[in-house]
Amino acid sequence: MSGKTFYIETFGCQMNVHDSEKVIGTLMAQGYAQVETPEAAGLVLYNTCSIRDKAEQKVFTRLQNFKREAGKGKVFGVLGCVAQQEGEKIFDRAPHVSLVAGSASYTRLGEMLVQLEAGNRRVTGLSLDTGETFDTPFTRRDNPHRAYITIIEGCDKSCAYCVVPFTRGPERSRTSESVMAEARRLAEQGYTEIQLLGQNVNSYRDPSPAAWDFATLLARIAEVAGIRRVRYTTSHPRDFVKAIVDAMDANPVLCDHVHLPVQSGSTRVLASMDRLYTRDDYMRRIEWIKTARRPYSITTDIIVGFPGETEEDFQQTLDLLDQVQYDSLFSFKYSPRPNTAALAMGDRVPEEEKQRRLVILQEKQRAIQIQRNAGLIGETREVLVEGRHHSLGQWIGRTSDNRTLNFTWDSPPGLSSSDLAGKYLPVLVTRAGPNSLVGECATVV
Ligand code: 5AD
Ligand code: SF4
Repeated sequence: MSGKTFYIETFGCQMNVHDSEKVIGTLMAQGYAQVETPEAAGLVLYNTCSIRDKAEQKVFTRLQNFKREAGKGKVFGVLGCVAQQEGEKIFDRAPHVSLVAGSASYTRLGEMLVQLEAGNRRVTGLSLDTGETFDTPFTRRDNPHRAYITIIEGCDKSCAYCVVPFTRGPERSRTSESVMAEARRLAEQGYTEIQLLGQNVNSYRDPSPAAWDFATLLARIAEVAGIRRVRYTTSHPRDFVKAIVDAMDANPVLCDHVHLPVQSGSTRVLASMDRLYTRDDYMRRIEWIKTARRPYSITTDIIVGFPGETEEDFQQTLDLLDQVQYDSLFSFKYSPRPNTAALAMGDRVPEEEKQRRLVILQEKQRAIQIQRNAGLIGETREVLVEGRHHSLGQWIGRTSDNRTLNFTWDSPPGLSSSDLAGKYLPVLVTRAGPNSLVGECATVV
């Protein structure tokens, strides 16, 4: 391997992004230097996603593109969900790959690197049989203001469409003590926003005798000195209890946003997805949020075209959008995944029909967002400044309720246009689009 350099590309969710931060930290602690291109690297890693077929295909495209490079002494590794799902089959499909490891094996990463360095060209980490979480002091965080903390890994649910239980293994929570210690350390390092991560973040259950539930952990994290914002993702509605809303109400450090994936507005489809709640159960949770002490933005995920979804079912999803008035949503066409229960279900919805439903859903939601965002014009919101759009002459800000609020700021005379990134500023909203807001900041920094 040339000079112990590595390149890593990450696909998929925030859990994957954060896993990569930990993988990068581990590699650096073992003497590797990160480089910006695969061409410059001795070790090329792809941290992969298999949530939908399209995501899965990306890694194979990349591997195909660099096939010839393998001859030049480069070592290739596939990490993450595709690695776990496809296992050693990856070696058959892309023989130039030398490492295949799922996230449940990252605790063994150091050892696997040693094997690669010794010239082993078939190194695997594929066991899901672990009670461990990947805790490392070497996490390499790129954003200097917002830090991710994984509090629970894996998933014990069995949604009929979902690969995650197969790619990330059974649920295991970190001790509250280790989570709190990490949060305090981050605050000392100057981070002001913490994002708690888990595939089912609200199923968190402290394995230590303290036995904190998720609401307790939220409340405690929000009390860490120096932390100004706490977010969490992703919540499963079944485990979303009233105590979570109460904890949020009690401390505005807990951001004004709940992401609560519903997947479908039809109780019949929810049952066949094995989601463990009905539309009414879900609406009860929405009511807790809507009747809380302060306003929260609510966002969701929706799948269209699940096997057996009729026009009537789809209309119920559209009706749910009217009823809830989401601030934003992610929508997907159902994609059949290996190992999942839905794979064997008949009554597949044709591709064109899935596409038609997706477009209708997205148009409806766009109209809702235009209306909701327009209602914010004239209000002042605090943003955390994330960076600058040089071409637009605007700063990029994020509100507590997770909206993008870009703004202009005239640097006061005598003061250089110092970097605002990381600052918390009040911004007056002056314009609104479907996906973001624009405003002005008059504060002297
Ligand atoms: N097909 C389409 N969308 C899916 N999701 C999960 N599995 C699938 C699948 N097989 C969506 C769900 C989930 C989000 C992360 O991805 O909406 O909440
Ligand atoms: Fe993709 Fe799911 Fe794996 Fe995240 S956990 S990388 S979304 S398959």
